Amino acid sequence: MCGIVGYLGEKEASSVLLEGLKRLEYRGYDSAGMAVLNGNGVAKAKCAGKIAALETVLLSQPIHGHTGIGHTRWATHGRPNDENAHPHSDCKNRFALVHNGIIENYLEIKEKLLKAGHHFRTETDTEIIPHLIEIYYNGNLEEALIRSLHEIRGSYAIAAIAEDEPQKIAAARMGSPLVIGIGKGEYFLASDIPAFLPFTRDALIVEDGEVIVLTPEGVKLLDSHQKKIERTSFRVLWDTAMAEKGGYKHFMLKEIHEQPDVISETLAGRLKPNGISLEIEIPKFERVFLTGAGTAYHAAMIGKYWFENLAKIPAEVELSSEFRYRNLHLSKKTLVVAVSQSGETADTLAAVREAKKQGASVLAVTNVMGSSISREAPSLYTRAGIEIGVAATKTYVSQLTLLFLLALKAGLEREALSSEEMKMFLKELYRLPELVSLTLKKESDVKHIAKLFASRKDFLYLGRHVYYPIALEGALKLKEISYIHAEGYAAGEMKHGPIALIDENVVAVALTLKSPVYEKTISNVEEVLARDASLILVAEETNKQVSKYTNHLFLIPETHWLLSPILAVLPLQLLAYLISDKKGCDVDQPRNLAKSVTVE
Ligand code: AGP
Repeated sequence: MCGIVGYLGEKEASSVLLEGLKRLEYRGYDSAGMAVLNGNGVAKAKCAGKIAALETVLLSQPIHGHTGIGHTRWATHGRPNDENAHPHSDCKNRFALVHNGIIENYLEIKEKLLKAGHHFRTETDTEIIPHLIEIYYNGNLEEALIRSLHEIRGSYAIAAIAEDEPQKIAAARMGSPLVIGIGKGEYFLASDIPAFLPFTRDALIVEDGEVIVLTPEGVKLLDSHQKKIERTSFRVLWDTAMAEKGGYKHFMLKEIHEQPDVISETLAGRLKPNGISLEIEIPKFERVFLTGAGTAYHAAMIGKYWFENLAKIPAEVELSSEFRYRNLHLSKKTLVVAVSQSGETADTLAAVREAKKQGASVLAVTNVMGSSISREAPSLYTRAGIEIGVAATKTYVSQLTLLFLLALKAGLEREALSSEEMKMFLKELYRLPELVSLTLKKESDVKHIAKLFASRKDFLYLGRHVYYPIALEGALKLKEISYIHAEGYAAGEMKHGPIALIDENVVAVALTLKSPVYEKTISNVEEVLARDASLILVAEETNKQVSKYTNHLFLIPETHWLLSPILAVLPLQLLAYLISDKKGCDVDQPRNLAKSVTVE
């Protein structure tokens, strides 16, 4: 996730762009840059680091002009350094372009461009676009942009400028957000409304497939065949704080609702007709060991079941805080997968170092390019964008999605899956963003149940097999943001002790999804009911049996049982959020916690 901005008017573009970028910093902040037109070509300023670093660069080397574009980066392709910071340009620096998204087929296009003699300066996927514009430019920027877009596959919000058209910005959207601000004789574009709120409240939403042209004459909206589209602007009534949260009350809720898009990003370019393609080579291994902390550990736990079931390979999991104190006897044939959203968790970093010391192959699954862990080990990125809420939600589902891909790929390479099974899993993965979106649409059902149980003091989350880590995650979410006592338990363990706790004061939340452990879990549900606990069940909407146990149901769409944990966790995230909000807790910054724990 990155943020883009654009300005055309009479003000000094660099200061308007800087203001906008500061308001989009929540979308990423590993590098930033801008380009303006001043009648003498394209003037650029860019650097690694936060917007403050760019501000310092601009103070010593100001760039002047009234038309410009800017970018704050959250690296996905290429390290966060000065060169890879946007804007990017063509061979002769006649064009500058900023991009939020991922170009899936950039490698094949880059190869063609290199053969044709184009000179590349960065490791980014984005850089191919200004080079394509360079080829197609014939005095009209939007025309060249449209022709370039016909060649690329992926997601984007793009803004471009050309030295020969100093009073024009051309932009386009496909799968990444883009809005236009309309002021008096001035125009803005941005990934999100807050970027231009200090200047105007009149906005226009750009839809997928559309191209926008900003000139002093106004805003022109075109479809991909350059046909004009009419759209009326609307007035933004949110205050600035609300606007940053996209109209949601808290970042956590916004991030929960971003999950369909996040999963699409995690999958982008990785699903192929006959399998899974990952950006890095995974060394051959005979055993896999997963590790992480907190929510990342819960993702690692499910990863273990997936490696066992999809790749038929021995898999183990350990908390990263325990990892280096065990005698694990790792070897070259063991793949250690370290899961960490931030890539900075001290214990997980120490586990990575220990695994390397013991000679194991190490792979990181992280959200942050350039993080400490990503510098220690080859990394696969979850591409969830920056997560502001301390409670991990969208980064968790992106970790799960990526671990599933990893296990599926291992299964395919070991011939542990039939081609029929593979096809079925690919089909389900393609449907996943839509299934997540359908699940989240049932927020009002969760709201009703959250209201009923918000004042209760004890929650017990129960699940077996792949749903056991989901039970742990559901309990963790509730504890950390609502300060209610909650336990996650392997449902089969209940009768070995914790059942003694159960009485009418306990709320049990059981994961009764159709799977090989369904009937056993239902038996555990009966045990809970027999002891008068209140009961909430998570089940498929096609399951007509569950309503005989309780009226408190979170119903989710059907998918393969190995994938259903990714859907099952969603109502539990919402339940924790809604209870926390109802109790008036500080949802995004719960007490005693930090987003990344860099001490052991
Ligand atoms: C989750 O809601 C927590 N904030 C916490 O458990 C977190 O997952 C853990 O600290 C690990 O962080 P990491 O993924 O950045 O390594």
